[in-house]
Amino acid sequence: MLRLKIIIVSMREGRKGPAMANWIYDEAKKRIEFETEMIDLKKINLPFLDEPEHPRLKHYTRQTTKEWSRIIEASDAFIAVTPEYNYGYPAPLKNALDTLYKEWNNKPFGFVSYGGIAGGTRCMQLIQPVLLALKMAPVLDAVNIPLFTNQLDARGKFIPNQSQIIAAGKLFDGLVFWGELLRETRSDNLINIKL
Ligand SMILES: Cc1cc2nc3c(=O)[nH]c(=O)nc-3n(C[C@H](O)[C@H](O)[C@H](O)COP(=O)(O)O)c2cc1C
Repeated sequence: MLRLKIIIVSMREGRKGPAMANWIYDEAKKRIEFETEMIDLKKINLPFLDEPEHPRLKHYTRQTTKEWSRIIEASDAFIAVTPEYNYGYPAPLKNALDTLYKEWNNKPFGFVSYGGIAGGTRCMQLIQPVLLALKMAPVLDAVNIPLFTNQLDARGKFIPNQSQIIAAGKLFDGLVFWGELLRETRSDNLINIKL
């Protein structure tokens, strides 16, 4: 089983992100390949990066960093549920990534993005070099949701259309492909094989 984390990126008061996150979480739960967990950056509440040393050294001083490290270490694949802000990626997403290093290495990262006409695609495109710097595998099959407010019902629940359900399936397939492949390359497993 791949330990999949679905990350709610938006931390705003009145944010809409949880609607799309709840939907993709329910879809992921249908897949036998995943052990799925929701991670809410608003609850994690990381400070803007203020650790004295580069994260690759793992000399963390803050309890919040240590806890974030533990969560990401114990994961094999990720989906960020994210808007774009001013044609770019939201600061909480960049901060969550920058706070760690090795914990992200050799793991796949996919997207459910949402927004106006561009459906959050600019966030997804612009964050790719950051993911590569963290030695991650960006999964390009994504769910991009334009004009997402048209798909929220009276209670604020996201109602997907057929093409979004199909896109979610392809996103999961990509995460499984890279997740299983890369898990074999990670050092813990290599050590186990040597033993
Ligand atoms: C600071 C800010 C910048 C935004 N910039 C964009 C943008 O560049 N493109 C877009 O499609 N929507 C943009 N929006 C609208 C968001 O898509 C919309 O507010 C959405 O609800 C944000 O997600 P959230 O509610 O989960 O935070 C922006 C919203 C905010 C608050």
